[in-house]
Amino acid sequence: MSEPSSRRAVLTGTGIYLPEKIVTNAELAERVDTSDEWITERTGIKQRHFAAPHETASFMGAAAGRAALEAAGLAPEALGAIIVGTSTPDNAFPSTAVHIQAALGANKAFGFDLAAACSGFIYGISVADAMLRAGQVDSVLVIGSEVYSRILNFEDRGTCVLFGDGAGAVVLQARDVAPEDTKSGAGVLSTHLHADGRLADILYVDGATGRRDMSAHLVMNGREVFRHAVSLLAGAVTEALTANGLTAADIDFLVPHQANKRIIDGVGKKLGLAPERVVVTVDKHANTSAASIPLALHEAITDGRIKPGHLVLLEALGGGLTWGSALIRL
Ligand code: COA
Repeated sequence: MSEPSSRRAVLTGTGIYLPEKIVTNAELAERVDTSDEWITERTGIKQRHFAAPHETASFMGAAAGRAALEAAGLAPEALGAIIVGTSTPDNAFPSTAVHIQAALGANKAFGFDLAAACSGFIYGISVADAMLRAGQVDSVLVIGSEVYSRILNFEDRGTCVLFGDGAGAVVLQARDVAPEDTKSGAGVLSTHLHADGRLADILYVDGATGRRDMSAHLVMNGREVFRHAVSLLAGAVTEALTANGLTAADIDFLVPHQANKRIIDGVGKKLGLAPERVVVTVDKHANTSAASIPLALHEAITDGRIKPGHLVLLEALGGGLTWGSALIRL
């Protein structure tokens, strides 16, 4: 856990990009043996965006990043670092982050990709928070950008109906907070990260450039992932609250990773949160992996639900397994 200090990582802007093409459950059912009813009942998903060939992780990430920098009022040339959570990079190297750096003209920033599957954004927030507190940089653009449509096996109806494409970004900037304001002041209060590689085989992509077999399709044992998800996520959010001497009643909004409405509801219920305090976008975006939290966060900030001063709890779980939480005051 990151300890409180006078230097804080404050969220100053958000931005998103969604591919133009929307595919509804009914449209998907034309090419896959499934139905709107089955998908809606089991997952809460109604539609997803699928990327066109030019909409790569770097293209979408740059668009989301540009919007986040504009919202923050930060010039690209002033940016210190770019972290991109992605499992679907344009190239094995260079990183998606340097493609985005070039597209934005963020010439002073360094950047790298972070591989933590659906937990990529939470991991990115945690690393950015540590870099900002340490004084390594004064600003970080944290992006989640994914094109899962390119790694889906459309012969496997148990997985291909669950995912979509998109990108979301936030700007974190270092600010000094007076010691008496450590609880009420804006900024990342804490992050908690976890991994259990013994569960690597329940959710993975079966190819990459380091192997001969580059078929690269997502493979998942959905039941096993579901079985672990609610308890591990509930543990990660309880850990965040306990570490900060808070209870669920102090949380204004839970912005969970958007994988499945039943998992989201399960965590919300364990916390005893009213449904209106849980941000849900899985119906519109499906599971966009590392992009799902910044997409949901952006929506709730821009529609006015999440306001300055609100305490927001983020959580995610993904392939690895990896999971974690981040507690942020806006
Ligand atoms: N359309 C119609 N039927 C489908 C289907 C689809 N898209 N996918 C699977 N089915 C069928 C199965 O073939 C099975 O039929 P059978 O009983 O005749 O064999 C039946 O539905 C039940 O399949 P099962 O896999 O046991 O369903 P489930 O209740 O576990 O739901 C998931 C499947 C994937 C929705 C669920 O396991 C889940 O959400 N898991 C978590 C996945 C997740 O969120 N992963 C990402 C984490 S980052």
